[in-house]
Amino acid sequence: MRKQVAIIGAGPAGLLLGHLLKAEGVDCVVLERQSGPYVLSRIRAGVLEQVTVGLMERLGLDARMKAEGLPHDGFNLADGERLIHIDIAELTGKQVMVYGQTELTRDLMEASEPRGVEVIYEAADVALHDIVSDAPYVTYTRDGSTHRIDARFIVGCDGFHGPSRQAIPASAGRSFERVYPFGWLGILADVPPCNHELIYANHERGFALASMRSNTRSRYYIDVPLTEKIEDWSDDRIWDELAIRLGPDAAAHIVRGPSLEKSIAPLRSFVFEPMRHGSLLLCGDAAHIVPPTGAKGLNLAASDVHYAAEALLGFFKSNDNDAIAGYSEKALARVWKSERFSWSLTRLMHRFPEDGPFERRMQVAELDYIASSEAAQRSIAENYVGLPV
Ligand code: FAD
Ligand code: DHB
Repeated sequence: MRKQVAIIGAGPAGLLLGHLLKAEGVDCVVLERQSGPYVLSRIRAGVLEQVTVGLMERLGLDARMKAEGLPHDGFNLADGERLIHIDIAELTGKQVMVYGQTELTRDLMEASEPRGVEVIYEAADVALHDIVSDAPYVTYTRDGSTHRIDARFIVGCDGFHGPSRQAIPASAGRSFERVYPFGWLGILADVPPCNHELIYANHERGFALASMRSNTRSRYYIDVPLTEKIEDWSDDRIWDELAIRLGPDAAAHIVRGPSLEKSIAPLRSFVFEPMRHGSLLLCGDAAHIVPPTGAKGLNLAASDVHYAAEALLGFFKSNDNDAIAGYSEKALARVWKSERFSWSLTRLMHRFPEDGPFERRMQVAELDYIASSEAAQRSIAENYVGLPV
């Protein structure tokens, strides 16, 4: 098979890119290791920035998101008894959209066939070849036979553990990494949210986040040591802990219910530079990871896709080689700013095991400053809604 672009990974980054390229007449294929239902069973991000919403609008795939998503004008930072409201609409003139990654992926997936976006699920042993040449190719096996796709470009949208980044020789790139000493235990339940806006809480027992997927489906998180096992966390134990950490006002409104899903995700900051090597471009988690505080992971994948589509369309439509050459630098400039925001909000809202009384006073002083300064709130708000692309 010969294509202009071979995309590896059918998460949000790969599907968004496939749709954007196809809409402009670029011939591409998306290769995914898992089955479609498996991809949809992964419960991940829940808050979309304008850049992500804008890409769905551009594709004309925003109808369900506009009907079912919840536009939010603000969110809250909780510190013991205190709730600091960050009025993002007032401070930035923008909103964020609460709409699950699962739903966004479903919208893209369901539109693939009608729009001729070719996605090959259950493609095993995906491998990249000749990526420094102008004629790279991808091989994979499916139904017992080996297949080959020749392309002008390969785009790695295959997440943190995928083969794309690993195809780049270590001498051609550099990784930056910080692993955090805790994970987020998440619970999804069909109960109304305890608050109409998100609450990120720093309590002496640890972090908690009250989020939602709709007015009838809630998503909550607490941070736990990496040694914890999900089997040791009954639903009741999670609800009890949330009620303590989120504070009495939120606790009074928590409605408990059986978990639809619960899991523990580790927290990591990671950046691989550069995001292009020869004819291979990396997008999303394949190139970088942020800790989830700040809801940046999915949105960063979307902004990478925005830049990658721009570069590839420049190449195929206008013979613009510079667009490809500039991709990594453009994408990384935004990546590092999101990395900084996610890292600093993680630092502010979690109790680190190595922290002493000094570090705690620094957190309290920063929260005091945020509570009393519109400038500080504006800085948080403009990062939360997403920096411009
Ligand atoms: P992915 O969604 O990871 O998609 C990559 C795709 O590539 C997958 O479908 C995978 O199956 C496929 N793939 C992998 N290897 C291969 C291969 N060998 N061959 C073919 N295909 C392959 N972000 C938030 O903002 N908030 C959250 O609460 C949050 N929770 C998260 C929880 C977990 C457990 C994880 C892992 C991430 C979470 N994130 C969260 C981050 C966010 O979900 C990601 O940033 C986002 O999914 C990135 O999209 P992506 O398309 O780059 O990668
Ligand atoms: C959700 C996840 C996040 O990481 C975040 O910062 C906000 C919301 C969520 O899953 O709803």
